[in-house]
Amino acid sequence: MRVLVIGSGGREHALVWSIGRSPDVDAVLCAPGSDGIGVDGRVVPVDEGDFEGIARLVTREGVDLVVVGPEQPLANGITDRLRRDGIAVFGPSQEAARLESSKTFAKEFMHRHGIPTAAYRSFEDPDEAAAYVESCHAPVVVKADGLAAGKGVSVCADAQEARRAIEEAMRERRFGDAGARVVIEERLHGEEASYYAISDGERFVTLAAAQDHKPVLDGDRGENTGGMGAYSPAPVVDGEVERRIVERIVRPAIDGMRLEGEPYRGVLYVGLMIADGEPRVIEFNTRFGDPETQAILFRLESDLVPLLQAAAEGRLRDDAQSGIRFGAPAVCVVMSSKGYPRSYPRDLPIEGLGEAAALPDVKIFHAGTRCNAGVWRTQGGRVLGVTARGPSVAAARDRAYAAVSRIRFEGAHYRTDIAARALGRERP
Ligand code: AMP
Ligand code: GLY
Repeated sequence: MRVLVIGSGGREHALVWSIGRSPDVDAVLCAPGSDGIGVDGRVVPVDEGDFEGIARLVTREGVDLVVVGPEQPLANGITDRLRRDGIAVFGPSQEAARLESSKTFAKEFMHRHGIPTAAYRSFEDPDEAAAYVESCHAPVVVKADGLAAGKGVSVCADAQEARRAIEEAMRERRFGDAGARVVIEERLHGEEASYYAISDGERFVTLAAAQDHKPVLDGDRGENTGGMGAYSPAPVVDGEVERRIVERIVRPAIDGMRLEGEPYRGVLYVGLMIADGEPRVIEFNTRFGDPETQAILFRLESDLVPLLQAAAEGRLRDDAQSGIRFGAPAVCVVMSSKGYPRSYPRDLPIEGLGEAAALPDVKIFHAGTRCNAGVWRTQGGRVLGVTARGPSVAAARDRAYAAVSRIRFEGAHYRTDIAARALGRERP
């Protein structure tokens, strides 16, 4: 079969690589892709927002399955558009993607279905939002309602910071229309993790837990980014915590969407805060995480493609879970450009990629690079996701950093403490 992945980042590189390993797959295409993705698949220059162009590409290339990477095309209805032509596509409908594209929708949905999450209120008037914050007498989190590329959330120490965050989102429109409405919620404490399930609208299978590292600097300091590294599994999600996540969150969410007439087909990413073994939802995302996917798929030993295809076609088998096998832990360390998540230089030559990639159990996923006349250059804020597996999280971490140490570009930045928290929990 022929599979088309939509997107161009590190997550999409991992998807292309993983899909390409399936014995059922003859060709993996990626639109718009990148030079790095082109090493593992065939890149086609069609923009991820050009739904008509993508529909034509599917017909022209005889694509059997489309897999959507990023949230924006989902929020804009790419799956509805392609399904109208009878195309099999992995990803939720525009309505179902509101679990991610509207935080108010997600909070109301969780409330309707008794899914544990932080207490919240939603506001369209900045004065009312500010008055509410004053009345809280506790730290709050201010969130732009719509998509803001991971930047629309402010965890506020006091009411003054919260008022500032409300001003920025609602009056200054720092996140555009995404900030026309804000959700203000109780600040949760505990350890974060994310969890992934794939559903066909009715049944679901679970993949694995992972932990992301959002702040740009060691020790979780500095500004939030799209993610500076990840590892999987996440030891904080032990057997009992996993059971609670599945029974209290994943199952009611999948059942709830179906009961509300919007069956959820795709991957459900559950962002969690876990305290004393009790998981609560920080956010739902309606696509794979980046960079968590790089770690999760590098661990996956069984074939991803039958799951994606069955979910797209609404026919996951009842015994699908028993076919899913994960191997040794994996760690992904993101190398980013100097200045990210703010402005950064581009076009700096990258050295040592070949040497790093030759290390055993290492795979380098490209997030923002291009290749010109045989020279790899930086192109994005997040440049590479250097991913390794090993018999323990500690061993995988050491291998990933050994590979990182072989790679050089001017101003290269990476966190040196990816997976440090898991090491504290891992038995020697
Ligand atoms: P989100 O984009 O919703 O995942 O939020 C980004 C980050 O903000 C999360 O990874 C958390 O670290 C933090 N965050 C979001 N909501 C809360 C909350 N209610 N309590 C504490 N931290 C939060
Ligand atoms: N790594 C966080 C996300 O994909 O949203």
